Amino acid sequence: MDRWIGKIAVITGASSGIGLTTAKALVQSGMIVVGLARRKDRMETEMNDMPEARGKFHAIQCDVSNDNDVVESFKWIKNNVGKVQVLINNAGILVKGKFTDLENATLQNIINVNVMGTVFCAREALKVIQADNLPGHIININSIVGHRAVKPEREDINIYIASKHAITGFSETLVREVMGQNIRVTSISPGLVQTNLMGPVDLTKLGLPVLQPKDVADSIIHVLGKPQNVQVKELIITSLGENLP
Ligand SMILES: NC(=O)c1ccc[n+]([C@@H]2O[C@H](COP(=O)([O-])OP(=O)(O)OC[C@H]3O[C@@H](n4cnc5c(N)ncnc54)[C@H](OP(=O)(O)O)[C@@H]3O)[C@@H](O)[C@H]2O)c1
Repeated sequence: MDRWIGKIAVITGASSGIGLTTAKALVQSGMIVVGLARRKDRMETEMNDMPEARGKFHAIQCDVSNDNDVVESFKWIKNNVGKVQVLINNAGILVKGKFTDLENATLQNIINVNVMGTVFCAREALKVIQADNLPGHIININSIVGHRAVKPEREDINIYIASKHAITGFSETLVREVMGQNIRVTSISPGLVQTNLMGPVDLTKLGLPVLQPKDVADSIIHVLGKPQNVQVKELIITSLGENLP
């Protein structure tokens, strides 16, 4: 990771779960990290407690499903922090229920956050990376359900699976669009992770094999830390014993 010291990483959804744990790991590694999420206060409070950290953290309030928010956030970063080289598209939502029971606005929002948020942020980051031919890396946090339509035993998760399949397709598109440039693309697909994505449930108490956010953050650091000529395109990571898709 040493070559990334002092370089700028943007991570979406840095206010909790995988995003927050990864933001901490990146700051510990010496990167300048900009977190985008709706809960700016929470990012600031959580990241405050890192006196030994080698890097820095900036929080921006941003709804990634809002194109204007995303454009303004990247503008602010360029003018106030510098040139982004690493983007981790992590923000995501899951709403429980059958798709037939949900309002249009709820369904649309899942696509807007999980898919369009990823697309908007990738576009803005690429503009900066490509303008100066910088070494770059875009990491999309996908899911094992982005590869095969498995339904978790206890829940109906409507179009979440479709939204993650879109990330598989978009990651492939990104790989092709930046082919020949010094920009890596990685899709990381975790299995079940103990976070608030499905609400305040202790998944281990349900007898399910689960990963911790740190397990995913470690994988992000692993792919990022590889020499720039090494591209990990796909990484599927599950808890031992979890049903693979
Ligand atoms: N947990 C799992 O089992 C699991 C498995 C596979 C993949 N994933 C994926 O991992 C990623 C992170 O989820 P998590 O498990 O860490 O869940 P989490 O703890 O609920 O975190 C979700 C993050 O996304 C942010 N977010 C939600 N809507 C947003 C919006 N409109 N604009 C900006 N940020 C938004 C939230 O911040 P604010 O609320 O402050 O905006 C929060 O920081 C998601 O893409 C998820 O699909 C999770």
